[in-house]
This record gives sequence, structure tokens and C-alpha cells, in this order.
Amino acid sequence: MSDSVKISYKEKEFTYPVIEGTMGDIAVDISTLRSDTGLITLDEGFKNTGSTESSVTFLDGDKGQLLYRGYSIDELAENATFTEVMYLLLYGELPTASQLDSFNKELQENCTVNQGVKDMVNAFPTTAHPMSMVGAISFTLSSFYPEVGEVKTPEEFDKAAMILLAKFPALCAMAYRRTNSLPINLADPSLDYVSNFYQLMFKNDQNIEISPSIVSALNKLLILHADHEQNCSAATVRVVGSSQAGLSASIAAGVAALWGPLHGGANQAVIEMLEDIKKDGSGLQFWVDKAKDKTHAFRLMGFGHRVYKNFDPRAKIIKQATDEVLAQLGIKDDVLDLAKGLEEVALQDEYFVKRNLYPNVDFYSGIIYRALGIPKEMFTVMFALGRLPGWIAQWKELRIDKQAIGRPRQVYIGAKTRSYVSLDKR
Ligand code: ACO
Repeated sequence: MSDSVKISYKEKEFTYPVIEGTMGDIAVDISTLRSDTGLITLDEGFKNTGSTESSVTFLDGDKGQLLYRGYSIDELAENATFTEVMYLLLYGELPTASQLDSFNKELQENCTVNQGVKDMVNAFPTTAHPMSMVGAISFTLSSFYPEVGEVKTPEEFDKAAMILLAKFPALCAMAYRRTNSLPINLADPSLDYVSNFYQLMFKNDQNIEISPSIVSALNKLLILHADHEQNCSAATVRVVGSSQAGLSASIAAGVAALWGPLHGGANQAVIEMLEDIKKDGSGLQFWVDKAKDKTHAFRLMGFGHRVYKNFDPRAKIIKQATDEVLAQLGIKDDVLDLAKGLEEVALQDEYFVKRNLYPNVDFYSGIIYRALGIPKEMFTVMFALGRLPGWIAQWKELRIDKQAIGRPRQVYIGAKTRSYVSLDKR
């Protein structure tokens, strides 16, 4: 007999089934709790709430394990390309050589954007943050490409996913170029996905060669960011998608959620914090103490995670990759030494040890991006570029499963019923 949970309330007993996932996750299914008892569950920040069953990504926060469709990210980051991982997330299996070949060809064929999109980018002030442009263009993309709006059939999904994935590098690079008052570069359909993105960013104005080390580092970073189960932005994409909003509008909502400094915006905040520490000269312990001080809003950016309470496996790979990339490119960045020193001080501090606070994916990624010539305002955009296939895979799963509209309940604690008082009597 399968396990169940019994709840006693007002002298009655109610039984709820325990659901078990393929990797041993356990949950109690309380979907009939309210109709049985009148009770709802209260779980602010969804710290203990499973919003869905999913077969895209598995993570075990205690073991520091992260799997995309069953494959460990260590193996994928080491051996796969980003487009291979896109296919895996979207379709559930690693592509065969010919499937990958046609997928890559289709990405290349669809990589350009039309003049309307370019005009829209050029209408932004050059002071705009690139994330605001990427969010706005994602939101309006269905006006230029109606295929990425309404999606009903699997064929329509394939087309919509392809257009979004193929054009996203151009959207990201255009945002960068606009903020730097640079003319937009044309997409090059002869190049692979990552190389095309890099030339869209820098062609004609920086003497950066697209070397194999750059392509390999970018592939790795994008793979490591590609999905992370029900995180803040993926959950947002799913909730928006559950109202049957179109694909690109749902993705735009994900971009908005990602921008916050407690989520994807942390990578920019980490570099800014490290630069402040370097400039300030008060020493690492001062900053660690400041992060512990509850009277102060400051937190050690790039530290801590809702789910990982041992280590973030992505941070481990990125830390190692940082050393390799900087060595390959012959770059010495003293911010890397500062980051390593800060990690060491924090990891020995009882406050961080007791709360299981470790460096997360964002702690070292910015240092690699800097080495690749990508400025800090673009770090969260890089995260979005990596996370796009994950958002799309989560959206697809939701729409195929035809899940109910996402609509949480609440416990109301406001004013009790009262009568309107006219203006002259207040
Ligand atoms: N610096 C100092 N203290 C911290 C930090 C930090 N970076 N992170 C958590 N804490 C403390 C909290 O103050 C709290 O202390 P308390 O128990 O004394 O009240 C305790 O650790 C638990 O923290 P919560 O905020 O309750 O944990 P939660 O799971 O809600 O938050 C989060 C996780 C948002 C990532 C948090 O650790 C944080 O703000 N980190 C810094 C921002 C960051 O790096 N975000 C990127 C996350 S990874 C990603 O989204 C891609």
C-alpha cells in the first residue's frame, strides 16, 4: 500500500496520498484539503510548496546534484554544446547527429531579425538597461513574428520555440550595442549559435577573435544556466503561461523575474560588490561582518540559495572554469583573487556555516564574462540567453499537461468589512 498522511482537524481525520518522484522526492498531495476541511496551506515564498510534477530538471539541494532530463550538468558542461542541451531540454532526449544537424541548421536559418525589431531597439534611450530592452522586445516579438504568440499544436510549438531561440542572441546583442551607441551588427547564418552571438556583440568594434576557448567557455556557461526547475523566473513563466498567454509574452515575464538582484540580477551585483570591496579597502572581514549585520540590508551577493544547502554544483564548475579561461586568455584579474579570498573568509564564518550559505552560480560567472569582454550590465542578459531553453521547456510541459491556471490563495489580514465614508466626513 502506498504511503499517506493523516491530518486531524476538529475531531475528524482526513487522509492524503504521498506522491513519490522518480529520484525519491516525496510530497503530500493536498489538492482536496480545502474542499475536505475548509483549510488552505500557508507557505510564504513557496519554501515548501511543490507547484507541479515535472520531468525536465531534477535537483537535490543536499547532495548538490543537478540533472537535465536525467543527465548530470557536470557531464553536459564537459561534453555537450549549448544547442545540444537546448534540444535535450525541449524534446527530452539527446539528439542524434542528424537531429542535431537539422536543429542547428534551422537555428542558423532563423537567426536574423526584421527591420521593425531593429527600429524598436533604436527607439530606446542609450541609458536603458539591456534587460529592459530584452524584456520589452521579448514581450512584443509576437507583433513581428505572430508564430511566437498563439501556440496550440506541437508543430506550432516547434516553430515558436525555434524562432525565439534562433533570434534571441540577436536581441541580446542589439541591447548591448544600443546601450553603447554602437550600430547593430548583422547576424551571420554561416556561424554556429555561440560564435554568431559573439560576433553580433563585438564585430567591427573590438579586436576579439572568436577563439575555440571563447566558444567553449560560452557554451559551458550557457549550459550551466539552461534550466533550474521551479526557480523564480521559471515559475513565473509557468504561471503566466497557465493563463494561456502566448509563448513570447510568458518568456518576457521570465526575463522580468530574472532581472531582480535576488535572482539572475545577482551576477551583476556580485561584480559591483567586488569592485566596491576593492575600492573601499576595509578588508574582507569588514564586508562579511556587514553581511551578517541584521540592521543592514547588505547581503553577500552570490552567496546562499533557496535549495542548495551544501554546495551549488554549477558554482563549483564555474569556479574551475574561471581559472582555466583566464589562463587560456592570458588575463590576470585581481577581482578573482578577491572573490576567492571572500569565499574563504565567509566559509569559515560561523554565521555562514550555520545557515549553509555557499557561493551560488552567480559568484564567479561575472569574472569569466568580464574576461570575454562582456560588460557587467550584460551579465543578467547572458543568464537569460542561457535560461531561455529551460523556460521554453517548462512552458511546453505546462501547456501539454494542460495545467489549471496558477492562482494561489491567501489568508486575509486586512480591515474587516466597513462602510464607505464620504469625503466630507473623513
Ligand atoms: N548574505 C548574508 N546573509 C544571508 C545571505 C547572504 N547572501 N543569504 C541568506 N542569508 C541569511 C538570511 O539573512 C537568513 O538569516 P536568518 O535565518 O538569521 O534570518 C538566512 O540566511 C536564510 O536566508 P533566506 O533569505 O531566508 O533564504 P532564502 O532561501 O529565502 O533566500 C537567496 C535565498 C535569495 C538566494 C538568499 O540567499 C540571498 O539573498 N542571496 C544573495 C543574492 C543572490 O546571490 N541571489 C542569487 C541566487 S542564485 C539564482 O537565483 C540564480
